[in-house]
This record gives sequence, C-alpha cells and structure tokens, in this order.
Amino acid sequence: MHDFVFHNPTKIIFGPGREMEIGAELTAAGIGNVLLVYGRESVRKSGLLDRVIATLNQSGIGFVEFGGVVSNPVLSHTREGIALARQSGVEAVLAVGGGSVIDEAKAIAVGATAECDVWEFFLGREVTAALPVFSILTLAATGSEMNGNAVITNEETRQKYNIGTIHAYPRVSILNPELTYTVSPAYSAYGAVDAIAHLIEAYFTKEPGTRLQDRLVEGLITTIIENAEIIRDRPADPQARASMMWAATLALNGLTPAGVGPYTFPNHMIEHSLSALYNIAHGAGLAIVIPAWMQWYQPRNPAQFERFAAKIFDRQTGEAGISALKEWFRGLGCPVSLAEGQIPNGDIDRIAANAYGLAQRWEIDQLYPAKTIAEILHLSAQ
Ligand code: NZQ
Ligand code: ZN
Repeated sequence: MHDFVFHNPTKIIFGPGREMEIGAELTAAGIGNVLLVYGRESVRKSGLLDRVIATLNQSGIGFVEFGGVVSNPVLSHTREGIALARQSGVEAVLAVGGGSVIDEAKAIAVGATAECDVWEFFLGREVTAALPVFSILTLAATGSEMNGNAVITNEETRQKYNIGTIHAYPRVSILNPELTYTVSPAYSAYGAVDAIAHLIEAYFTKEPGTRLQDRLVEGLITTIIENAEIIRDRPADPQARASMMWAATLALNGLTPAGVGPYTFPNHMIEHSLSALYNIAHGAGLAIVIPAWMQWYQPRNPAQFERFAAKIFDRQTGEAGISALKEWFRGLGCPVSLAEGQIPNGDIDRIAANAYGLAQRWEIDQLYPAKTIAEILHLSAQ
C-alpha cells in the first residue's frame, strides 16, 4: 500500500424523490441564488426541471436558467454560461443532468470567479477558486457528481481536455435512481462501459500487489455487469438502476485508486480524441478503444490480465478475458471497432496526433508517442 490522501468533500443524498431537498440544501449552505444549468430536452420532458424550480421557489432561492448543454460539452457554450453567471451575480451553480451538464456547470463555476479565460485552466493553469457547485444527477456514468473533474471540448482546436480540482467537487449531489429510468438503452450501455473504464485504468496500469483495491474494483465491475444486463432487459428495475448509479459514482470518486501509487488513464487519453474529432459518445468511444488497448498492454502486466479474466468472466487466460469483455460490450449494443463507430481507419494518424496532445498534457507521452497510439488504434481497426 502506498501513502495517500483521500479527501472527498461531496455530500451525497441518495434515493427516490430526494431532488425535492435541493432548495433546503442551498438554504443551509447560505446560497440565495443560482445559475440553473441543464441540457437540451430530457429534464423538460421528464418534468424534473419544473419540480426543481418549484422547490427553489418554495425555498426562496432565486435562479437564472441556462439550458442547452450538449453531450460532449463545448467551450463556446461554457463561455456563454460564464458571462451569464457574472452578469447575473449568482452565488452558486446548480447542474441538473448527466455528466456533460455537471462538467459544464463546474467549468462555469471555475470561469465565473477567474480573471483569465477559462480555457487556460484546461491547458494547465492552476484553479484556485470556483463558485460552489450543486448537482442533481440524471444519468449513471461519469462520476462527475462526486469528483472534481470537468471535461470540455474546444471546438476550434479540437482539444477535449479536462480540469481536476478540489474547488469543483459538488458541495451536494442528489442521486435519485428513478430519474435514470428514461435514459436510452444506448446511453445506459455507454454509462456502464464508462464506469468500467474508470475502474480498469488504474487496475491494469498500477504496480501489482494492492489486493484490497483490486477487490474493490472487481466487486464494482461485477456489479456493473450484472446490473447493466438487467437494465437492458428491464429499464425501470429499481434495484438495478440504484446499484448502477451508486457503483458508477464509486468508480470515479477517488476511492478505488487510493493507496495504489502511480497509475495512468490511457484509454481516456485516446477516447477523448474520438469524441473531439467525431463527437462520438464517450462510452461508445471507450468500447472501441478498450479491447484494443488491453490487447496492446497485456504483455506488460500479464498476471493482472489473468486475474481479471478469472475474477470477472471465469476464464483461464488474459486473452480470453479481453475477448469476453469485448463480447460483453457488443452484447450491450456498443461499437467495438472504429468501423462500427463510423470512424474511417484511414484517419488513424490524425486521431493519434490529436491524442498525443493529451498524452503530453497528462505527461504520459514517453509511453504513448503518436506512433504507439496509432499502433493501438490499428488493433481496433478490424
Ligand atoms: O441533453 P439532454 O436532453 O439532457 O439529453 C442527455 C444526452 O443527450 C441524455 N440524458 C441525460 N439524462 C437523461 C437523458 N435522457 C433521458 N433521461 C435521462 N434521465 O443523455 C445524453 C447523454 O448525456 P451526457 O450527460 O452527455 O452523458 P454522460 O453522463 O455519459 O456524460 C458524458 C460526458 O462526461 C465526460 C465525457 O467525456 C462526456 O463529455 N466525462 C466526465 C468525467 C468526469 N467529470 O469525471 C469523466 C468521464 O471519463 C468522462 O470523460
Ligand atoms: Zn470516462
């Protein structure tokens, strides 16, 4: 076990109907008005937005609406939100939606208090402050509801980059699994893939020997697999949606890698380029990248791949474990090759060049020069 600091300040309120407590939570935090950030249509269609507005009114919390966040949120819209937050003098940002909405809300919260343009933080400038962030989650996938990360695409430069800061952790996140019943089969599947991706990055790239963390990861992956299958067959199964929601939160809230020492996030580094260049859903991009990366990486950590195969899929070899995961992605309806994601194999060098920018930003460019990234992508070209 390595030394570590685990500091996660987000309060989680979990259960059906709990979104009606947001007004009281804001009041308790001394917040009088918020920027109310949401996506394109789901929160209107489901009636959630009306309910949230009703509870804000009841608690006497003022709000300014800022809708229209797109999946894979973009910098231009984030900048509009920052301008609105400044102009209206809101004291906090309330996100109602999936990971994209929460991420953009965090970036707005950071940008609203800064003197510089928000993109500078995505290029490496240190974040020193942000407006308080609150969230009501509607899609189980990213873990954004309980971490300090935000991922935004700069549409001009085609960079999909992130910030990670203690200042962006939501103060309170409300998780009502019933709100996820309406998530489409495709996004439900992508969410499961994303949560698994968050767990396997450190599991495979850390040094061996931290068995507690291995078992936490294996328990979460097994839970995600089991419940994703139930959700595919019965989208409104209460226990499956609840287990999936909490598992996805735990998959990227800092719990599982605490104590494992150094690790990297290579599948995300490559996937962010697929999203940046082709606007593919994050989980779909991961389903394409992961089996290829696993094939490439397996010889570097064979014992852990064997362990994964045995614990997750009851298979005897690392290779068989990789095939089983790929087949499982396919069975959920995810693309598992560039072609299935409508991405031309001829673009591999362009994708690799884009991903190399993020490899440099994350300081993993020694292990992942552009030609290595291209080699991995060729494994997803079949
Ligand atoms: O815009 P609306 O109409 O709300 O529709 C959304 C969107 O089209 C819809 N949706 C959300 N909740 C729904 C619903 N539809 C029906 N019922 C509901 N309850 O689903 C679509 C996808 O939503 P989105 O928020 O984009 O999905 P997700 O939560 O997977 O977020 C993806 C974004 O998060 C980033 C990804 O890169 C991507 O940009 N990530 C953020 C991370 C973080 N902050 O820690 C880590 C991840 O690795 C990831 O990079
Ligand atoms: Zn992810």
